[in-house]
Amino acid sequence: MWSEVLCDSGTMKHLRDHLIAADYRVDPVLDRITEAGQAGLGRNSTIPAATALGDADDPQATLIKMFVLGREVPRRDAARALPLARLEGTGLVTVTGDSVRAEVDIRPYGFEIPDTEPVAGAPATFDGWVVSDPTPGLDNDRRPTRPDYVLGVSPASTTLAGMTIPGHVGAALDLGTGCGVQSLHLSTHADRIVATDINPRCLHFARLTAALNNIDVDLRDGSLYDPVPESFDLIVTNPPYVMSPPRTDGCLVYREAGLQSDDLVRQVVTGAPAHLNPGGVAQVLANWAITDDQPWTERVAAWANGGADLWIIERERLDPFAYIEMWLTDAGLAGDATWEARYREWLDYFDALHITGIGMGWITVVNSGREIPDVHVESWPHEVVQPVGVALGARCRQVSAASMDDGELLGARWRIAPGVVSETMGSLGAPDPQYLVMRQGQGLKRATQLTTELTAVLGACDGDLPLGVIIDAVAQLMEADVASLRAQLLPGVRAAIVDDFLRLV
Ligand SMILES: C[S@@+](CC[C@H](N)C(=O)[O-])C[C@H]1O[C@@H](n2cnc3c(N)ncnc32)[C@H](O)[C@@H]1O
Repeated sequence: MWSEVLCDSGTMKHLRDHLIAADYRVDPVLDRITEAGQAGLGRNSTIPAATALGDADDPQATLIKMFVLGREVPRRDAARALPLARLEGTGLVTVTGDSVRAEVDIRPYGFEIPDTEPVAGAPATFDGWVVSDPTPGLDNDRRPTRPDYVLGVSPASTTLAGMTIPGHVGAALDLGTGCGVQSLHLSTHADRIVATDINPRCLHFARLTAALNNIDVDLRDGSLYDPVPESFDLIVTNPPYVMSPPRTDGCLVYREAGLQSDDLVRQVVTGAPAHLNPGGVAQVLANWAITDDQPWTERVAAWANGGADLWIIERERLDPFAYIEMWLTDAGLAGDATWEARYREWLDYFDALHITGIGMGWITVVNSGREIPDVHVESWPHEVVQPVGVALGARCRQVSAASMDDGELLGARWRIAPGVVSETMGSLGAPDPQYLVMRQGQGLKRATQLTTELTAVLGACDGDLPLGVIIDAVAQLMEADVASLRAQLLPGVRAAIVDDFLRLV
């Protein structure tokens, strides 16, 4: 049982001082457990890391054994590594006779801070810790995961952090904060952070994470937007998007909401515009249903609400079988006697809802104030360069630029964005290439095929001459009619602007 009182900021400061003194940081810990130890933890096996540590009893080794490997350590070692007297009774550790065991996972966590607007003297990296429940299933421990389990940093956490648009904001909302990891990211670029969760255990862990890292987070209990009457400049969330049959014995709150199909994601997306300041952005990592009774693009485009822009990118699609197997395994049911019954129940559930596939990807809602909202749904399963947040942030600006009327577009000066390259392909010895492709070297790594004329025009866009002058010069060179070349090229130019190949000077 925890004590909110004993886990106060004074205790967490003492704990922080001890973690720092022991050099309990990302790189030193990774070095200490060796590559084999890291790979082992990736397979939920602690033995390779424990082997690397051997009998070491220095504070760093003790902290790794306790908080990463979940092992009991002698009281004498724990007392050297931790402010043990202060931690007793907090619920963070249990002392039994001469042994001490951690009740939580405390893991070093760090990241590079995107330098969109570098501030002199501001740190380039964040180096801290995340507090969560211990990893379930370590070393084939088959105890079932508790329904209110608090997940630590997961691949979904880092994907959401990577897709978050960087840059300074005033107020930010971390909806469904879990262990509080997104709030750590937000603390590097938001003045104020509100973090919510429906699970009180999550709020407790998020409070510990915030206190340990000495950041201010306004934590609120409640579902979706219920606890937030106010609006934000940035909302980030990876809500419990797993679509699964309702269960009488309770769902896993960290991944399932108990709503039908993708209704929770729909509510998050449609509810966002009412909580966004002008220009504010909501970013959602989500799953959605692909059904056999409606085109998926049409189905999710209908989530556009409140006049806000909506951009949905499907990154991956799974068939129901692969999806069900993935999440049954995540629940620790691989090898369980109930596996097939649960599997079939899940298939029947999808069948009844006409779900034939599951889309997984990124959703961006922007309160752009545009007269006609930009609603765009696409599949982009290709490799991207993380962090992709800057590229996601560019679309709103670029859509505005691309919606100039023809006269403004032709009169403006444009420049090819940094990192864009051209590629030609064709048969060896052929006088002309068969394909001309323009490709981004960063962000979404878009690629688009070009005509010779568009290549000539975009290639000359270096910010010096207005677009109209460049097209006229190309028309002259190619002995083409100016008006028809303009009409022919403008759609391609607009597409190049929206996809951020071409920027307004
Ligand atoms: C997949 S976890 C994400 C945790 C964290 N944001 C991260 O990046 O690791 C989803 C979180 O949403 C919370 N949650 C579940 N239902 C919710 C609801 N209706 N409203 C708000 N949060 C909810 C869960 O308790 C869990 O902490």
